[in-house]
Amino acid sequence: SDTKPLKGKTILITAGPTIEKIDPVRYITNRSSGKMGFALAEEAAKMGANVLLITSVETLPIPNGVQCIKIRSANDMYEAVMKHYKQADIVIKSAAVADYTPALVFEQKMKKKDGELTLRLERTKDILKELGRKADKPFLVGFAAETENVDTYAQQKLIKKNADMIVANNVSQTGAGFAGDTNIVTIFKRDGSSVPLPLLSKNETAQHILKEICKTLEKDCRK
Ligand code: PMT
Repeated sequence: SDTKPLKGKTILITAGPTIEKIDPVRYITNRSSGKMGFALAEEAAKMGANVLLITSVETLPIPNGVQCIKIRSANDMYEAVMKHYKQADIVIKSAAVADYTPALVFEQKMKKKDGELTLRLERTKDILKELGRKADKPFLVGFAAETENVDTYAQQKLIKKNADMIVANNVSQTGAGFAGDTNIVTIFKRDGSSVPLPLLSKNETAQHILKEICKTLEKDCRK
């Protein structure tokens, strides 16, 4: 129906930062609050979807009807997504996943020493890219947080990661991106078209993103 356009669909959404442990008292993370992903989960549930939310965030209320899986690191998120993506018709990757993680996790708290300290970091697995390679790939929506050349980088990401849609936020704009209650995004699609959205609340932004997903899926069905 018009009010429940995602009825019968299962959507997997990742939200928030990842937390990369250095030792028992220290970690590396980023400025993502999880608000964009939680807004997507809330709006998707309202549109009738079964929603599975994979997140490290514990400070936001879990929206009604949403099933939540708690993770911490990029590797935890990778494992949770790989375990559950097969159930999903649509995967939306709004999480800000660490690109690097400490190569060694210290069992005990690191003690201060004289001089400099070098932490060795290694690359994490690219979850979006790996999903894009699957034969049973769900409809795949990635995010892009950029500070320059937003259109070019978003288009490149769409192709490189074999995604069906990229939601790009120019995080250098006031009111866009990390932590606040608003966002300014442009939705890039596989057919080369793009939908720029104005400054909106994260919930309104989520509604538009989900509407564009529905439109694209309907079009694909009619082909
Ligand atoms: O959480 P908020 O405070 O509300 O902020 C929202 C947001 C700015 C975090 C969100 O709108 C956003 O842009 N999320 C993606 C941020 C990001 O990490 O972008 P990226 O360009 O580094 O990554 C591109 C895509 O690849 C993302 O979909 C990301 O989830 C995915 N990725 C990245 C690295 C990795 N190892 N695996 C991935 O799947």
